[in-house]
Amino acid sequence: MSNLVRLSVEGGVGVITVDNPPVNALSPGVPDGILAGVGQFGEDDSVNAIVLIGGGRTFIAGADIKEFGKITSGQKRSGPGLTTVIERLENSPKPTVAAIHGTAFGGGLETAQGCHYRVALASAQVGQPEVKLGIIPGAHGTQRLPRLAGVEKAVEMCALGDPISAADAFDHGIVDRVIEGSGYEELLAGAVEFAAGIAAGGGPHPKASERDERLGTPEAAAAICDAARTKVRRIRRGQMAPLKAIDAVQCAVTLPFADGIKREAEIFQECLFSTQSKALIHAFFSERQVRKIPDVPKQTPTRPIRSAAVLGAGTMGGGIAMSYANAGIPVRIKEVTQQALDKGMATIRKNYERSVKRGRFTPEFAEQRLALITAQTGWEGFEGADIVVEAVFENMALKKEVFQQIDGVARSGAVLATNTSTLSVDEIASVTSRPQDVIGHHFFSPANVMRLLEIVRGRETAKDVVATSMALARTLRKVGVLVGNCHGFVGNRMFHPYRREAQFLAEEGAKPSRIDSIMYEFGAAMGPMAVGDLAGLDVGMRVRKEAPHLYPPGTRRPLAEDALCELGRYGQKTGAGWYRYGEDRSRNEDPEVDAVLQRIAAEEGIEQRDVDDNEIRDRLVYALVNEGARILEEGYALRSSDIDIIYLYGYGFPPQRGGPMFYADTVGLASVLERVKEFHAAHGHWWRPAPLLEELAGQGSTFGAWDRARL
Ligand code: 3HC
Ligand code: NAI
Repeated sequence: MSNLVRLSVEGGVGVITVDNPPVNALSPGVPDGILAGVGQFGEDDSVNAIVLIGGGRTFIAGADIKEFGKITSGQKRSGPGLTTVIERLENSPKPTVAAIHGTAFGGGLETAQGCHYRVALASAQVGQPEVKLGIIPGAHGTQRLPRLAGVEKAVEMCALGDPISAADAFDHGIVDRVIEGSGYEELLAGAVEFAAGIAAGGGPHPKASERDERLGTPEAAAAICDAARTKVRRIRRGQMAPLKAIDAVQCAVTLPFADGIKREAEIFQECLFSTQSKALIHAFFSERQVRKIPDVPKQTPTRPIRSAAVLGAGTMGGGIAMSYANAGIPVRIKEVTQQALDKGMATIRKNYERSVKRGRFTPEFAEQRLALITAQTGWEGFEGADIVVEAVFENMALKKEVFQQIDGVARSGAVLATNTSTLSVDEIASVTSRPQDVIGHHFFSPANVMRLLEIVRGRETAKDVVATSMALARTLRKVGVLVGNCHGFVGNRMFHPYRREAQFLAEEGAKPSRIDSIMYEFGAAMGPMAVGDLAGLDVGMRVRKEAPHLYPPGTRRPLAEDALCELGRYGQKTGAGWYRYGEDRSRNEDPEVDAVLQRIAAEEGIEQRDVDDNEIRDRLVYALVNEGARILEEGYALRSSDIDIIYLYGYGFPPQRGGPMFYADTVGLASVLERVKEFHAAHGHWWRPAPLLEELAGQGSTFGAWDRARL
């Protein structure tokens, strides 16, 4: 018997317990153990029924994702496949019952579908999240789930991958009974009682593979599947797995079960070996890896954050306050004038109203959250805050003044965070008596929505302040990424050359709308011009003015956006930027922009030409990669996978590409370097290859391998 699976007998019911912490994944040894358990209990005359349950906090959360890399790299695997185990559970003459708490995900839910019955705690969640890893359910889930729940529910679950509650699962026939209680013990007792009752009632016991009462007609299924295809093409743009999952589920209606599972296996293999799947699996592990900081181990104590105070109720301060309130943390928000405060609070209220209208929040939830926000123009209560977050204008003199004030009022031990997007955290910290408590919390706009939080470690930031910030990110439902204190930190430092290159391309004759559409086709949420218009072109103009050292003499300087700003074209907020905007914010090309670009080209002697699509894509994406490589070698990011997470969660980089650094690995660093050298030869200074890129390309290595060497 595998040591990952335990057997026991309770009141005539054989209990198979999977014990593979933390999430009871189906790692090698688990399928074998379940199979052996079913065999042993089948032969044991004192056992009348079998319960399959997960030890610890959860049922089986799916296949072991680490195994997928082994399969695709050709390593041999031993032991029975999961489908053998599932068939054995379904064909057991004694009734089999899956007892679900925590999460039954992926292969876990498929194992449960092989059981004759499923019971669950009300707090449990079930789902087929495989598409989020670029694959489809591969252990008959696309064939059994529609037979249990109907095609519509199965399509929704398999194509979108979101979990559903036990109550929802019960309503759709996936779960047969919701067990009262909240813990493992109650679940086990309820499941044993249920199983004993079923056994006493005699057979036959339902096999999901043989059921057809919910399948419906092929015509009805086709209509459901077509509607789902239209939806996922929009909300999972560029991703292959959701469409493949729909194809597989449709087979449950058009093919007999035996043929359906064959088709599922073919599609599963096709997806598993795709670059998209590798990219999404990379994203899954990177999101977990990002929490690991070599010199701040897991055991590092954290400071409790039970209350917060925010300075500034502008675009960012308001969103930050909402993030705290949404996590149930009371927050004070301070402005300089009552007028600014009222304006900020009105925006917060409007945002909550919009969330209620869209069904994201109930009116009660929104009211409760709003009640957690205290608006004020004075400092009262700041002395009690566990964290103070500064979100005033981006101006060093002002930030220093404000931090001196904070230093005077905040209690000893409070975390002092700045939301600056470019300024030095060390310089800000230097005006306080406690630089060890100062850290950057760089939120992204809109702060209540965007999941990324760059956590900027200053020279003197204490380790427990880093640990507290990382933990706090999770409480705020953000993905915290630790970065170093350089200009623009990681995300904006890379974004700067990306957007500079976009301007250069436009000045060389590429149409702005074409530049945008190439990045959109690449899978980005928006192209660089549209992003510039959204954020405001004046932001970049101000950076160029305030940080002239970024453009040393003799280097080419982007001129287009400064020229657009001179015409009052700041982007969406002024109705025009790279585009002219309609009342409904529709984007229209504008000949005035073409004229500006032609004028710049003529004045600067820039040759206007027909820039090809690949050049546009490569110059934009490799500008990110080359800067990313510099950031890595300078130590401002811990891992290339951290950079990927920043781009996936903060900049709308397409998830199916895995992030810019992973994308470069998939292209091959030698090819990337070759292009960078071509651009260097043609465009000079800005394209000097990063030494780390040259080194890795020379070794035939990857950024991923560089990360692994540092684990
Ligand atoms: N395989 C391998 N490792 C897994 C895993 C899995 N399926 N699920 C989680 N882990 C690991 C994580 O990497 C992490 O490891 P670390 O501590 O070394 O970083 C650890 O388990 C804990 O994970 P989380 O930090 O994510 O824990 P949470 O409590 O926040 O979340 C969870 C738990 C909801 C189960 C979440 O981990 C999750 O969503 N996991 C993935 C589930 C999934 O995608 N299942 C489908 C797999 S594909 C499949 O089953 C194919 C089948 O059709 C054949
Ligand atoms: P904003 O102009 O919308 O808001 C700033 C607010 O601070 C104003 O309402 C102003 O009245 C208030 N303020 C000024 N001095 C103050 C003081 N002494 N005490 C209290 N309030 C004061 O600016 P925004 O966009 O919210 O930016 C704030 C900070 O966040 C800046 O450092 C910016 O660089 C950074 N940031 C901005 C992002 C964005 O997309 N807007 C993204 C990430 C960071």
